[in-house]
Amino acid sequence: MATEKEIVVSGIRPTGYLHLGNYFGAIRNYIRMQEEFNCYFFVADWHSLTTHPNPKDLQANVMRVLAENIASGLDPEKVTLYAQSHVPEIAELYLLMNMLAYKGELERVPTFKDKVRLQPENVNAGLLTYPVLMSVDILIQRAVKVPVGKDQGQHLEMARNFAQRFNERYGNLFPEPEAFNYGDNLVRILSLDGKGGKMSKSENEMATIYLSDSDEQIRQKLRKAKTDSGGVPGEPMPESVANLIEIMKLVSTPDTVQFYVDAFNAGSIRYGDMKTQLGEDMVKFISPIREKAAALQADPTYLRKIMKEGAEKARVNAAQTLQQARNLIGLNYY
Ligand code: TRP
Repeated sequence: MATEKEIVVSGIRPTGYLHLGNYFGAIRNYIRMQEEFNCYFFVADWHSLTTHPNPKDLQANVMRVLAENIASGLDPEKVTLYAQSHVPEIAELYLLMNMLAYKGELERVPTFKDKVRLQPENVNAGLLTYPVLMSVDILIQRAVKVPVGKDQGQHLEMARNFAQRFNERYGNLFPEPEAFNYGDNLVRILSLDGKGGKMSKSENEMATIYLSDSDEQIRQKLRKAKTDSGGVPGEPMPESVANLIEIMKLVSTPDTVQFYVDAFNAGSIRYGDMKTQLGEDMVKFISPIREKAAALQADPTYLRKIMKEGAEKARVNAAQTLQQARNLIGLNYY
């Protein structure tokens, strides 16, 4: 009996430029998963409408995030890559699932409460039902694994609840999805300003390395990275330096990393040299990705073809689930 590969779904937010944190936090997982699982990765364009992006920005962001993911190593031959809005089956199942989602539980979701606090002028219904749409993204493909970070844990728990609730009321249809990460891939990259925050889209741009940064920008950002006067033998490594070492482990050779760790321990570390070295290794790592992403963005016809083929495949699987949901609910009059 041929064993079917397990189904994986993940949504990519089309906001901001991808940075090192995204690459080592999410994309690297995707690249590994594409070899082992049946992966459906999509650009979450409907989700992004909660903040009312202007149409031109939305288009550019969707194309860029697609290009950057492919340039990083997602292979459209191996994974199903699509835009959420090209799979209308998701919208119908979302409507059906909303009948099983309660206002109280949605209002209690921490990410929703954060938004209410941060943007009280735009607390729309799409924001409230965000977890329902996200659950449906996953359930409609009958995925069992979802590569997401800790911040999405609550949303995944809701996806399991909705799956269970539907299954109990109407009959067994949805498997319960679990968060998935390769343990050794869980790296947390901090911003370069030494303030302890994650490298993130909202942080200071100078403290974040983007996949689209020029060689000169990369070198400059690393030159300005916070280090310490440190280097007293026996003292613990300051967080800002430890972060640079962590980043070094991702892009430099093991010998290089060892050299600077030893130098730190000996109290003879020269941070300027270390940051120059890291800058060069980072340039070697990022520049091929940046150039590939630029070439892909210059070829929208190719990107559209990828999205179209991805959506066709995603729709076949989604339509089967949706039809079963309709049947179980009793929406099958002919
Ligand atoms: N909410 C996710 C994020 O903010 C994006 C997302 C939308 C997603 N739908 C999904 C992730 C389905 C995994 C599966 O990053």
